[in-house]
Amino acid sequence: MTKFEVVFITTPAIGQLVPIVEFAHHLINCDPRFSITILIVTLPQRPLVNTYVQSCVATSASTNINFVHLLPVELPSPDQLQSSIGCISLFAERHKPHVKQAITNLVATESDLDSDRRLVGFFIDLFTTSMIDVANELDIPCYLYFQSTAEFLGFMLHLPVLDTQLTTGLAELDTELVIPSFVNPVPPSVLPSVMLEKDGYSFFLQNARRYVETKGIIINTFSELEPHALNSVSTSQVPPVYPIGPVLDLTGSAQWHPDRAQHERIMRWLDDQPPSTVVFLCFGSMGGVSGSQVREIAFGLELAGVRFVWALHEPHKAQFGLSDDYMSLEKVLPNGFLERTSKIGLVCGWVSQVSILAHKAIGGFISHYGWNSILESLWYGIPIATWPIYAEQQINAFQMVKELGLAIEIRLDYREGSDLVLANEVERGINCLMDYDNEVRKKVKEMSKKSRVAMMENGSSYVSLRALIQELVL
Ligand SMILES: *[C@@H]1O[C@H](CO)[C@@H](O)[C@H](O)[C@H]1NC(C)=O
Repeated sequence: MTKFEVVFITTPAIGQLVPIVEFAHHLINCDPRFSITILIVTLPQRPLVNTYVQSCVATSASTNINFVHLLPVELPSPDQLQSSIGCISLFAERHKPHVKQAITNLVATESDLDSDRRLVGFFIDLFTTSMIDVANELDIPCYLYFQSTAEFLGFMLHLPVLDTQLTTGLAELDTELVIPSFVNPVPPSVLPSVMLEKDGYSFFLQNARRYVETKGIIINTFSELEPHALNSVSTSQVPPVYPIGPVLDLTGSAQWHPDRAQHERIMRWLDDQPPSTVVFLCFGSMGGVSGSQVREIAFGLELAGVRFVWALHEPHKAQFGLSDDYMSLEKVLPNGFLERTSKIGLVCGWVSQVSILAHKAIGGFISHYGWNSILESLWYGIPIATWPIYAEQQINAFQMVKELGLAIEIRLDYREGSDLVLANEVERGINCLMDYDNEVRKKVKEMSKKSRVAMMENGSSYVSLRALIQELVL
């Protein structure tokens, strides 16, 4: 039987890597003829990535997924560049010779082992487009795995056109942007922060320009969720787009949880709460909130008087760093908060978000609005109140609230350095989120069903994945 080999490379961030690994599993489950190699870029500043990879390696013995660590490369020094995107893009570029070598080795070993193996695709992501050169040199079809929304993909694809129309930088822009993948004009206040920096913008543009050079774009979404955006990117100038989601890591992260005891404690606590009554607050692996903001949230929770689980991290200190769990909760939380709320709430550090969302006690989610979190929450039919922090989260929040009516607005344009969200705004957001008659809650429940149907046999994402497989093995 012919075997089909596929290679992946991704930006070294947990939010980018986990979906890739999950997609790899999904592809193999769908078609066992595939065998997958994931090239790992090592960035010591991101220890969570390494913890995750170690756990994958430990559990993947029986699967057809291999992890290959690329030789280490020096990170461009921060003073040469302003933005993290610039740094990540150049960092990726420096890996080109190692990637070429790794793929060449792979092909060589395989032809020794088994002549009936074919390397059929090299998958890159948002910020590793410089790898298209490697694919071209080795003559391997290159695909883009886009780890965000179809609306944002449409935005990236439109960026080269927008660039010719702009007379100022995006930061100085005072009019709303008309972007084909969005139904409504997009206010500049919801654009990603790094895009507002000159150098960040140019690296977005540089990566975006190259998306059309790929043979296909795989996106973790489903057509029932983003029909307008997916329609708008289906043009002859764009390679075929395959919406294959939601592909989710529904069990994995609990297995590599750095603190199992805490994880079990949270689960036992949730078991004792009535269904759909607990608000879960979590701001992602890199998005902590400042001390004064923490206190406003705490007061807001007390005002609302709801049950809650709050995953609380400090803002990350170093560029590319993860947010740390606060060492001393008593110091950052208002005096007596933990005692006063001990019967209704739980404050904890890093958690397995998806296990918590899956618990029947959870009734609402206050989230930083990363794409994986949105998909997970929709899957379990949990409405979200928006609290974007970094990356493209503001524009995600805009989409879910204004375009799709699938989320409650706390803030759309919150980011580092924004005005604090005050306790009464938090309280109002929570009350709206936990209102069982809210229209948003009903729509989220319906979309939850659609997300599951999309993945079933003959569902839209199932059909789309089949089409991709046909294309790969051709
Ligand atoms: C999927 O579609 C095929 C072809 O139309 C059909 O034979 C099959 O029964 C369908 N499966 C389900 C679960 O509906």
